[in-house]
Amino acid sequence: MTRAEIERLRERARALLPAHVFDYVAATADGSSEAEADRWDAVRFRPAALRGELDAQVATTVLGTPVDHPILLAPMAQQVAAHPDGEIEMARAAAASGTLIGVSTNTAIPFARIAEQGAPWWFQTYLLAEPALTWALAERAAEAGAAAILLTVELTALRVEPHVEPVNWPEGPARARLANLTADERALLGDRPARNPGLDDIARLRDVTGLPVVVKGVLRGDDARRAVDAGAAGVVVSTHGHRRLAGSISAVDALGEVVEAVGADAEVSVDSGIRDGRHVLAALALGARAVFVGRPAWWALAADGADGVARLLDGMADELRLALLQAGVATGAEASAARLARVTGW
Ligand code: FNR
Repeated sequence: MTRAEIERLRERARALLPAHVFDYVAATADGSSEAEADRWDAVRFRPAALRGELDAQVATTVLGTPVDHPILLAPMAQQVAAHPDGEIEMARAAAASGTLIGVSTNTAIPFARIAEQGAPWWFQTYLLAEPALTWALAERAAEAGAAAILLTVELTALRVEPHVEPVNWPEGPARARLANLTADERALLGDRPARNPGLDDIARLRDVTGLPVVVKGVLRGDDARRAVDAGAAGVVVSTHGHRRLAGSISAVDALGEVVEAVGADAEVSVDSGIRDGRHVLAALALGARAVFVGRPAWWALAADGADGVARLLDGMADELRLALLQAGVATGAEASAARLARVTGW
């Protein structure tokens, strides 16, 4: 899909959703939800030539899990506000498109219902105020078949949830996000906010679940290195979709520094503002193994359910294949080795 098509998708979602839900999804720390897409648009390519016949290959693996393309679904809270079946539909789309879904802590759907759609999934966790519940929830996700844990370490600038009236999910956001806790656990936790993670939490989560831990929300090479040295199997360069500290650099501006700091010791992926196949090519060329897509998938879910999300993902994968050929390389790894992309100044 082109960015113009994604904008049409967003406008269809706007027409269908209550205004406060649409605004919650669009919200940022400063500027438009599309500001980071503009930064990806500003990446310049140095297309290669004279490389003979090319057969573009977009299939890859993420932490050993095979995917048909490197475009993954970002964990996003409360998808039942976009579609009554929320993450069930999102997981169906991931299965249809041959990719992976991130499942937010704040899901209103039991893990088992998401898992049975057949797509590989990573459980995204915040650290709940009651530590024992974080470990219990992560363990439960592992038992339900999660392939990795995404530990979100970014503090968003927004306090968005209180503005979201629970008209579309009668239990209300605070309850819904605890769908995978027992009633006793819910009572123990109440509505207290999350804790801020430290390095020890990485190994703890890995040991509790037996799963690889990916740290989401890194914008600096030094932090990425510390995360990997503390046991992270991967990092996601992310501004949480421009929802962090106002005035922060964009994900694309941080990617090169993080890739360099991590080297071959962990997998680096990126999100925030990825809107088309050319953006994916830029991310791969700058050293990412995969990207996550957030809001466009939410809008597609609201507008057309699982079919719409699968069309979005398949469309982006097709664009990536074409962009690889136009760039004169067959794979993301070749794009990176050929130093195909250059980030313009910031
Ligand atoms: C998010 N994001 C997010 N991240 C996370 O780790 N846990 C979460 O529960 C949520 N929830 C959430 C809700 C909504 C409505 C949005 C828009 C985003 C951040 C998300 O995983 C991802 O980092 C961004 O959405 C990527 O940016 P784009 O693609 O939306 O520009």
